[in-house]
Amino acid sequence: MQEVLYEGKSKLIFRGEDDASILIRYKDTATAFNGEKKEELAGKGRLNAEISNIIFAYLAENGVKTHLIRVVDETSVLVRKAEIIMVEVIIRNVAAGSFSKKYGVPEGTELKNTIVEFSLKNDALGDPMINESQITALGLATKDDLEEMTSQALRINRLLCELFEKAGIRLVDFKLEFGRAGGEILLCDEISPDSCRLWDMDTGKKLDKDRFRHDLGDVLEGYRDVLRRLKNNVG
Ligand code: TMP
Ligand code: ASP
Repeated sequence: MQEVLYEGKSKLIFRGEDDASILIRYKDTATAFNGEKKEELAGKGRLNAEISNIIFAYLAENGVKTHLIRVVDETSVLVRKAEIIMVEVIIRNVAAGSFSKKYGVPEGTELKNTIVEFSLKNDALGDPMINESQITALGLATKDDLEEMTSQALRINRLLCELFEKAGIRLVDFKLEFGRAGGEILLCDEISPDSCRLWDMDTGKKLDKDRFRHDLGDVLEGYRDVLRRLKNNVG
């Protein structure tokens, strides 16, 4: 057995093939509310890995710099080792989740423009929202880093809205993580139904982790549906 370098809520990290890479293995663990709710969902790791790999490959083809080097097996990917920027970027196309709750806006409300939010990547503090001057004051990222992350995130949003629309899915919101490697900012972590809200365009059915968060049932059926539809619409 290889030595685990780090264990996150939904991933294990192992040594890569050299100092510039690491191996990420997706786990079946589902968590919500900063880890308060936790369950094993057999097969989730494999589904998220495959969905995220399709999306990362599509983004790379469209000029987005990502950490992905290659797919190793059903649940593992080799990626460039990057210093993760401890600021999560959240993009919202439609009101939902914490935005709806915080600002009293009914879920599903159309927005007049795309929303970009930053939150501090810190589970113990509940990933609080953080603004640009707070981020630069704490030295988490520079103004230039934030500009680059924002422009990449908006570009990724345009590309993903197009991809999901072809698959009959509305990209409601999602979370991105970035890292620094070799003087570049790379898209890191994953893009999957764990980190996005995805609604069926016709029925409004939720196909993402909200099924787990709010006990809506058939969690992985939603994930399988997303994978099936993406496979029919890429390449
Ligand atoms: P929120 O509505 O709870 O703020 O979440 C916005 C989007 O970001 C949603 O698609 C879920 C995703 N997200 C994560 O992937 N991880 C997180 O820790 C949080 C807070 C949100
Ligand atoms: N990703 C966070 C957690 O696992 C929050 C969430 O997505 O609900 O706790």
